[in-house]
Amino acid sequence: MNEQERAGRRLLPEVATGERKLEHVRLCLEENVAGEGITSGLEKYAFRHHPLPELDFEEVRLDTSFLGKTMRTPLLISSMTGGSKTTGAINERLARVANARGWALGVGSIRAAVEQPELASTFDVRRWAPDIPVIANLGAVQLNYGFSTADFQRAVEIAGADLLVLHLNTLQEVFQPEGNTNFSGLYQRIEKLCRELEVPVGVKEVGFGIDGVTAQRLYEAGVSFIDVAGAGGTSWVQVEKYRNNNPVRRAAAEAFADWGIPTAECIQDVRALNPDGALIGSGGLYTGVDAAKALALGADLAGFGRSLLESAVTSDEALSDRLEQVEFELRTVMFGIGAGSVASVKQTERLVERR
Ligand SMILES: Cc1cc2nc3c(=O)[nH]c(=O)nc-3n(C[C@H](O)[C@H](O)[C@H](O)COP(=O)(O)O)c2cc1C
Repeated sequence: MNEQERAGRRLLPEVATGERKLEHVRLCLEENVAGEGITSGLEKYAFRHHPLPELDFEEVRLDTSFLGKTMRTPLLISSMTGGSKTTGAINERLARVANARGWALGVGSIRAAVEQPELASTFDVRRWAPDIPVIANLGAVQLNYGFSTADFQRAVEIAGADLLVLHLNTLQEVFQPEGNTNFSGLYQRIEKLCRELEVPVGVKEVGFGIDGVTAQRLYEAGVSFIDVAGAGGTSWVQVEKYRNNNPVRRAAAEAFADWGIPTAECIQDVRALNPDGALIGSGGLYTGVDAAKALALGADLAGFGRSLLESAVTSDEALSDRLEQVEFELRTVMFGIGAGSVASVKQTERLVERR
């Protein structure tokens, strides 16, 4: 990207480096942070066209409900950012547009604002998004680094959230220069947090996927929803590689370019073992066709992360157009397979593996 293009991004002025979440946004926009030699697996599926759907396109409905909350779409903006003036402005834009279009919204890790209360306003998306589910976010590993239930509750309050999602990000922490890598004993601490917190707790990965057996154990621990955040989209080993000055770690990152469980495999595996667990399918989704495949494989909501970032730093209109395009694509798939509602997409027999 040249200087002119950089200057064109209204929400990305030059600011002091060292703001980790801003660096993450920058790297995700400017570097190749996709895994290599691995895909989401969604491309291995296709919908069998239904030539006589017996539907009026105008009546195809996207509304649904998730954990008892009604939603206008089965779509989610995955947890990404907050913590600085610039990323706070991105959160404000994501919140306003998500609210206008009826998408659920995740914010990025609120750790910085729990530790530095003056950053709280950069995560306070509820004031811009009164009508949609808002999901607060913290690393599960913080349970091993001094965070109490009250700190997790504080994160929920800062975002005005309905739900909290804990991220599991082992490999990211290993490659992160300042990473927290003690993940031992976490299961019991997650179980305790689920008992004590005032809102439902979910667990997500950050792009390496969650398998069915692990999901089953987490549901048993009291976790209310799983977001698989599977492989095939953003690789957080690759992102952290660019922030790590240690030549050994940077070189080692290449060996993990194809690490993770592909998104399609995660969704199927989690759903097969947990027929009733609330489930979000995400990781490497780009289009409404991808979202439809995630739903047809067993997800209740489909989540989008990095593929929204470019439009999110451009303008409200660009982001709104991007979300509208995803919705239009999803609706068109539904028309094309004769599914008039989200419930019928989830039950469709028209998703087939490509030969
Ligand atoms: C710029 C950026 C920042 C992110 N920050 C967080 C975070 O703070 N917490 C978290 O749980 N996931 C975070 N993620 C991971 C996403 O929520 C998502 O799980 C992951 O990127 C895979 O989805 P994707 O392939 O659609 O990007 C971030 C992703 C991006 C692109």
